[in-house]
Formats: sequence, structure tokens, C-alpha cells
Amino acid sequence: MLKKRRAIMLAHNYQPPEIQDVADLCGDSLELSIRAAKTDAEVIVFCGVHFMAETASILSPDKTVLLPRHDAGCLMADMITAEGLAAKIASLPPMPVVTYVNSTADVKALSTICCTSANVVDVANSLDAPEMLMTPDRNLAMYAAARTGKKIHVWDGYCPTHEWLKPDDVQAAREAHPGAVFMAHPECRPEILELADEIASTSGMIRHAQASDAKAFIVGTELGLLHPLKKACPDKQFYPASEKMICKNMKKISLADIIRSLENMEGEVKVPEDIRQPALKAVQRMVDLST
Ligand code: 13P
Ligand code: SF4
Repeated sequence: MLKKRRAIMLAHNYQPPEIQDVADLCGDSLELSIRAAKTDAEVIVFCGVHFMAETASILSPDKTVLLPRHDAGCLMADMITAEGLAAKIASLPPMPVVTYVNSTADVKALSTICCTSANVVDVANSLDAPEMLMTPDRNLAMYAAARTGKKIHVWDGYCPTHEWLKPDDVQAAREAHPGAVFMAHPECRPEILELADEIASTSGMIRHAQASDAKAFIVGTELGLLHPLKKACPDKQFYPASEKMICKNMKKISLADIIRSLENMEGEVKVPEDIRQPALKAVQRMVDLST
């Protein structure tokens, strides 16, 4: 079916194992954005959440981007609107706006540049400005502020899946698995990042586990990442920092949804041109910095 439609299937590292196992590419948000920008396929089947399919549509307007479940959203992306951001911008002196890709296209359209968890520090440092507004993830913004020395105005959004992780969970996991390396995603709270041995995007964690001499790891991100970690390092042990770290939206798409979506060309995500053009500037600036 993928061949018949000249389609490529992209899957985020949090997707269910059976989806990751048949995808053409699994990756973090940055890798998926770069691949969406480069592919010559006619159709992109995006197995992830809505903002990821929108980002693919922003970068590849001539392709058909399918999201097999239209209700696969992102709770963090829903914590900011274009109207709210416009009001915030108006309340501040002029400064760049850095927006996490976990946001809607109309929010990106008001932004100077986008970032992902993999490149947020490089993006902030690339701006010739001592001060900036960073949206919508307050944890990612605080993480960037601590590593760049820039004054970062914070939007009060967060990812509930990562926000749930508490120091007690980390302590319990460390006691259960003495000596294991604790890896945390920058969407976690600052007090969790302080406890981390390694802070990285989802694919960054896979690379770290592969390169490390350590044999056991506590994983401070959504549970879906355990599958690619175990595949990449079959001789190593991976333990969740908390069994509660599940994003329901990342688990909505099934193989049957993908087949139906491709058969009927259902679930197209297309960003209107008046939003796509300004959003593209912010996304492309990030992609150019990271390729
Ligand atoms: P990355 O895979 O880019 O680290 O993103 C994590 C995430 O929360 C995506 O929704
Ligand atoms: Fe959004 Fe968090 Fe789910 Fe990622 S894990 S899609 S940031 S709610």
C-alpha cells in the first residue's frame, strides 16, 4: 500500500512498537522534520501527533500529509494559542520568539524561529539577542536559560507526561536499579533535570545509550522510547523512571488506522498558505541551523 501510494511512513520514537517496526524512519522531532523536508515521496504518513503532521505540511506543501488519527493531538501544543501569543508579544519589548515545534502552525507563524528538544540551546545561542520569549514549554525554556545565560521569558505550558515525573520516582528507580544511568528529557521539571546523568531528546538518549559503557539505564521520558532503546542496545537494560509516563495521544494510531488512511487517502493535514508561509520561515530557519 505504501508503494502503491508512493508514500513514506515516518514514526516518532514514542509510537507503539508495531508501528515503529514497519516505519521507513523512526526518530525524534528534529530528525522527522528534516526527513519530511527532504523526501521525494508523494505522500507522507505521519505516525505521531497533529503538530508533527502540520510541520511536515509546512515543509512539504506539495505532498499529501496523512495523520491516520485526526484526534491525536498534543496537550502541550494546546496550551498556547496564536491570540494568546500575540497578546504576550505585545506586552513585551521587541525580542525574538523561539517556539518549540510542539505547537500549532498559527503559533509558529508568529515566531522568529522554532526549536526542538535536540537543538534548543543551539537555537537560543544562534540569536543575536540577550533576551527572548520561549514558548510553549516552560521546562524547556528554563533548561535553555540555564545553559545559554540568556534572559528567557517563559510561557507557562508543559507536557503532562513529563511533568508527572517527580524526584521521589527517580529516587525509587535509582534504589531499585543501583548504578543505572538516569537519562531525562528536557521536558521534565528542573528538579528532575538536576538529578539526571544525561539530558537529551529521545534520539539523543538512544545515541547516548549506544555510546555509553554503562549497561543499565533509567529512562525519564515517555514509555514508548523503551522499544527503540532495547532494539538499539539489545545487551543493555532499560527501566522506566515512572510507569506513569504515557502519552495517550501517541498511542492512538493503530496499524488498521494506517491502512485505512492510505486506502482512502483519509486524514489529510494541510496548513493554509497564509499561515504556512510565515510558519515556514520559523521552521526553515531551525532546519537550516541543524543540517
Ligand atoms: P523529541 O523526540 O524531539 O525529543 O520530542 C519529544 C516529544 O515530546 C514529542 O512529542
Ligand atoms: Fe505532547 Fe507530551 Fe504527548 Fe509529546 S509526550 S505529544 S509533548 S503531550
